[in-house]
Amino acid sequence: MAHDPRDIKTEADASPGALRIVAFWEGGFGTFTLPASGKVTIGRLPECEIRIDHPSVSRKHAELLIGPPLSLVDLGSFNGTRIGGERVTPNEPTPIPPRTVVEIGSTFLVVEGGSERSGPADLASRPTLPPSPSREGDPELVVTDERMKQLHRLLRTVAQGTISVVLLGETGVGKEVIARAIHRYSPRASRPFVSINCAAIPEALLESELFGHERGAFTGAVKDKVGLLESAAGGTLLLDEVGEMPLPAQAKLLRAIETREIVRVGGVKPRPVDVRFVSATNRDLEALVEARSFRRDLYFRLNGISVTVPPLRERAGELEGMARRFVAEFGRTLGRGEVTLSAAALATLRKQSWPGNVRELRNVIERAVLLSDGAEIRPEHLSLGRRPPPRRRRRSMRSPRSRRSWRRRRRTRGRRCRRTCGPSSASASSTRSSSARAIRRGRRRSSGSRGER
Ligand SMILES: Nc1ncnc2c1ncn2[C@@H]1O[C@H](COP(=O)(O)OP(=O)(O)OP(=O)(O)O)[C@@H](O)[C@H]1O
Ligand SMILES: [Mg+2]
Repeated sequence: MAHDPRDIKTEADASPGALRIVAFWEGGFGTFTLPASGKVTIGRLPECEIRIDHPSVSRKHAELLIGPPLSLVDLGSFNGTRIGGERVTPNEPTPIPPRTVVEIGSTFLVVEGGSERSGPADLASRPTLPPSPSREGDPELVVTDERMKQLHRLLRTVAQGTISVVLLGETGVGKEVIARAIHRYSPRASRPFVSINCAAIPEALLESELFGHERGAFTGAVKDKVGLLESAAGGTLLLDEVGEMPLPAQAKLLRAIETREIVRVGGVKPRPVDVRFVSATNRDLEALVEARSFRRDLYFRLNGISVTVPPLRERAGELEGMARRFVAEFGRTLGRGEVTLSAAALATLRKQSWPGNVRELRNVIERAVLLSDGAEIRPEHLSLGRRPPPRRRRRSMRSPRSRRSWRRRRRTRGRRCRRTCGPSSASASSTRSSSARAIRRGRRRSSGSRGER
């Protein structure tokens, strides 16, 4: 299988509905589009259709029988094969359930595509990888739930290559912190991690933010500006709320990914781009593709692999660890010293469904630390009965039509903002786009609170 991402086939190359195999191993990955029927061999030998040149893989390791159902026969391999964490019996066909991880030696294979509408592998929705204590978890995050450990273990492997990752999941589940973790796990960790919130930036500014601009490109472009794609050189770019990206910017981004070059707004000189893309959204990206508000070709480029981060209510085992970490953190930062969480308060937290997920839990704990007068948080400090409804992504519920009208309003706001504040700047070391802040500043200015810059 190919190691160099330039040789990687993507789903865009395959016929619609075709199955493809995505394989990850330490230091590499590759994809293979399966034929409609027949057999495909997996192994280290050059004559294998799916060749994985990794020492844990036998010369002729296994055979895929393209069904239905899709099944695998382990050909008596040295290190064995696991499907969904279960070791398969050699020389017997074993069906591969949809979206299940297959382990060939110490490499991971994921079957994507096919007729299932859910498409790409949804690695968190099926706990499939066996525990491996040495490589799980993340010291910067609370990761104690078995599914989350599996997810991080897989992401550590995925992070070694440059395959693009889409992070799906409800609001507040931790998509951004996981994007940062992918960056930390990757060989790009010493290079910048740059994030752009596609929903917070008016259309008129988004292209300039992503690709930069040349002096004089538009009114207010008083000097050259480096875009985020250039700022993230050698590192990782998080396209947060990617489903909100306007179509013109999508077209330009697709071009940049395909040519590995960008041209700044108002410029002519192509500049090389070397970033790993991680995209995050709490929207159904495939539905946006169907509604034609997200380009299918870009979707395939960004969606090398998709991972769904489970909601907090499905990670009950993590609640206590998170609550205690937040109590300690806010005790410290709010100057309350060593605050503890009473057993009754913990029991109350456990009864909640947490529609706002980890962010909501964090907010509740912050309030509780403030309300607690001393060393212990008790149930009455949690103010769960009176808490405001979780932050909702109103746009998530919008129809494509109402989204269009929202975009029109956003464009108008953008024009207004550009007149007052101009495109914002972002330094190469920034980890968060300054645009949202600039826009808010711009709005305040345009409402007359301060003069123009
Ligand atoms: N595993 C974790 N351990 C500790 N803190 C976490 C963890 N996951 C999330 N958080 C915290 O929860 C908050 C929300 O996380 P994050 O911003 O990554 O969520 P999100 O999925 O990107 O949300 P949204 O869809 O609303 O943008 C952050 O303050 C983050 O630090
Ligand atoms: Mg986020």
